[in-house]
Amino acid sequence: MKTPRNPVVLLTLAVGGIVVVYLQFNICHRQPTAGDEKVTKWHKNVPSEQWSKDNLKVQESVEKCQVEFVDPFHPDIVQLVVRPAPTLRCDLNFLPEITMVESRQLKVDRTKLRGSTGHATFSHCRYRNVAGKPEDDMKIVFSEWSEPFRSSVRLGEDSEFIHVNCFSDSKEENIISKSFFSLVPTRRHLDKLYDVKLNKRRVKYQPRETLNVVIVGIDGLSRHQFMRTMPKTYKYLTRALGSFDFTMQGQHGDNTFSNFLPLLSGNLESEVKEWWNNTQPQDAFGFMFDDFEKAGFRTLYSEDNPLYSGFYWGDRFFINPLTSYWNRPLHLAMVAERGFVTRNGSCLGPQTISEFQLNYLLDFLNTFHDKPVFAVSFFDAITHYETASAGVIDEHLFNFYKSLNRKGHLNKSLVILLSDHGPRWGKVRQGPNGRVESRNPLLFLTFPSWFLQKYKTVEENLRANTRVLTSYLDAHQMLLDLLYFQSAQRAPIQRSPKGLSMLEKLPQRTCDEAYIPEHQCFCKKWIETPIDISSRLARDVSRFLLLEIKSRSDKTECEEFSLGEILTVHLLTAQVADQAEDKKHPGRKLYQVRLTTRPGLASFEGKVHYNSVSKYYKVEKEIERLNLFRGERECLPTRRQVYCYCKGNNRKYDN
Ligand SMILES: *[C@@H]1O[C@H](CO)[C@@H](O)[C@H](O)[C@H]1NC(C)=O
Ligand SMILES: *[C@@H]1O[C@H](CO)[C@@H](O)[C@H](O)[C@H]1NC(C)=O
Ligand SMILES: *[C@@H]1O[C@H](CO)[C@@H](O)[C@H](O)[C@H]1NC(C)=O
Ligand SMILES: [Zn+2]
Repeated sequence: MKTPRNPVVLLTLAVGGIVVVYLQFNICHRQPTAGDEKVTKWHKNVPSEQWSKDNLKVQESVEKCQVEFVDPFHPDIVQLVVRPAPTLRCDLNFLPEITMVESRQLKVDRTKLRGSTGHATFSHCRYRNVAGKPEDDMKIVFSEWSEPFRSSVRLGEDSEFIHVNCFSDSKEENIISKSFFSLVPTRRHLDKLYDVKLNKRRVKYQPRETLNVVIVGIDGLSRHQFMRTMPKTYKYLTRALGSFDFTMQGQHGDNTFSNFLPLLSGNLESEVKEWWNNTQPQDAFGFMFDDFEKAGFRTLYSEDNPLYSGFYWGDRFFINPLTSYWNRPLHLAMVAERGFVTRNGSCLGPQTISEFQLNYLLDFLNTFHDKPVFAVSFFDAITHYETASAGVIDEHLFNFYKSLNRKGHLNKSLVILLSDHGPRWGKVRQGPNGRVESRNPLLFLTFPSWFLQKYKTVEENLRANTRVLTSYLDAHQMLLDLLYFQSAQRAPIQRSPKGLSMLEKLPQRTCDEAYIPEHQCFCKKWIETPIDISSRLARDVSRFLLLEIKSRSDKTECEEFSLGEILTVHLLTAQVADQAEDKKHPGRKLYQVRLTTRPGLASFEGKVHYNSVSKYYKVEKEIERLNLFRGERECLPTRRQVYCYCKGNNRKYDN
């Protein structure tokens, strides 16, 4: 597969600036500044007691999975992990957008020229079509440029993605406006096919309702960080729309792929790895888009970061588009256009990535307002690097929900807002709430109110399930149940053996029972007792952890680590004592250690088994790095870079 992958390399070079940023992660500690005052004031407006009460209830009601109570609005946390976030704008530093598309007319609005570019004269515009190359999701093809036009031009049925340039005079280098558009062609010739599939579903399975499914995913946002950084959307969901806030949503892994795969296909990453590797197409996973297409739903999937987000990280690829509406070719074209994608992927020319993507989704819903659809849009650019300013798109998301409501889409859809996983590193993870937050992504379900009134049991189940451990495998089963909806009964279809639909009343489960691996589990398993960090014991267990970290550090590429500082050491005692284990290893205790290393001040957390009498020790395999290497030279693949401070790094040794 080497040859077809070459375009990746070319595009990577073309957008080197973006690539560098996407690959680097946060470690800087910001000092409080004057701007923080706003954050504190804002925090006071939020009824913190309410969240506390809700969370405490969670704690009482749960037996198999107790969650440690952490206050999402503790002033120290808010100060550390939230930044004042004026709404993202991109129109101030780019050529004005003077064209727009309305009912397949591409129109010029010359009045827009005046405000932003002074006296720029206008001559004409041209457009060209962009399309994906069949069976190669890294390549795009362009049509010839159109004839020049001055006021409007009718787009053909073949136009799905277009690139428009406008010029000040006859010289084609004098561009005064540049735009890309994702259109939603109706493809009327397929109507009969979708209709007959819908009819087949109706006759064979007699589903009791037909709801659209609309999923908006935001990368790496914990539930608490969502509540803190997007207060407008959060309040709208919980107060105006009565959305279900799944307070105990867990995750199967710490990256997008390991959670979107179970959500969209019902497979765990470990399962597909038994028969698939990155060099092979991902089409074989069996995504539920196929289930929806078979049942007569039109489908859309869109990721905002065409080279590095969920299904593309690490040179992954598909042969065929996942869905019938798929604007990846346009994203590839925008990325390949020099200087068009800016601010770490947040801006596409004069448009914000968030509005661009949400408008594409809305266009799709509006175009098929009387047909069933299944749509998934994933946002990586805004939060991948840092979630502190996720609030810059709060307004956009809030407006999106309001539009859904105004246009009647909420009345016929299940709308899901979710994140794939909590933050693996950075300030949220390092903070005192980090362990829980890093394993608790947001999941909000919004159903039409008539639906909940009509199916009372489903409503009661959903409400109860917001307070028990849930996972993306459960969400997957729920979507299948909804596709062939039979009220609270299971739908009559082939199901994955894993996961339980959230439309049923879920039992109490341990992480293991919910297919959540131990190191991704936020359930409280240990009673933590702090150990004096200056004690002999603390120094011993820290030394063992350091030894293990050093053994994982590549000797030729990396500087040798020494201890920076011991941050914390806790003795961990099981909530429920394991007497067999205690008998087998008398005197052996478990310690959790957080420390930093030099040079580079990397921060790590690991667990060490230690018997202070026999001096036996063993370090657990899972060692988490709590910050990553922004600003450092990277000399190894990410997984190994985690344990490395590369030689030849000229960065200062402080932070
Ligand atoms: C991936 O699978 C292919 C086909 O089975 C095999 O040839 C290749 O060596 C594998 N690559 C890796 C990196 O495991
Ligand atoms: C892009 O990310 C870099 C890396 O930290 C950051 O310093 C910079 O402020 C970001 N740029 C914008 C415009 O957001
Ligand atoms: C919402 O949908 C229900 C069920 O289809 C319908 O009875 C009702 O009139 C709709 N409400 C609005 C405001 O469109
Ligand atoms: Zn992710």
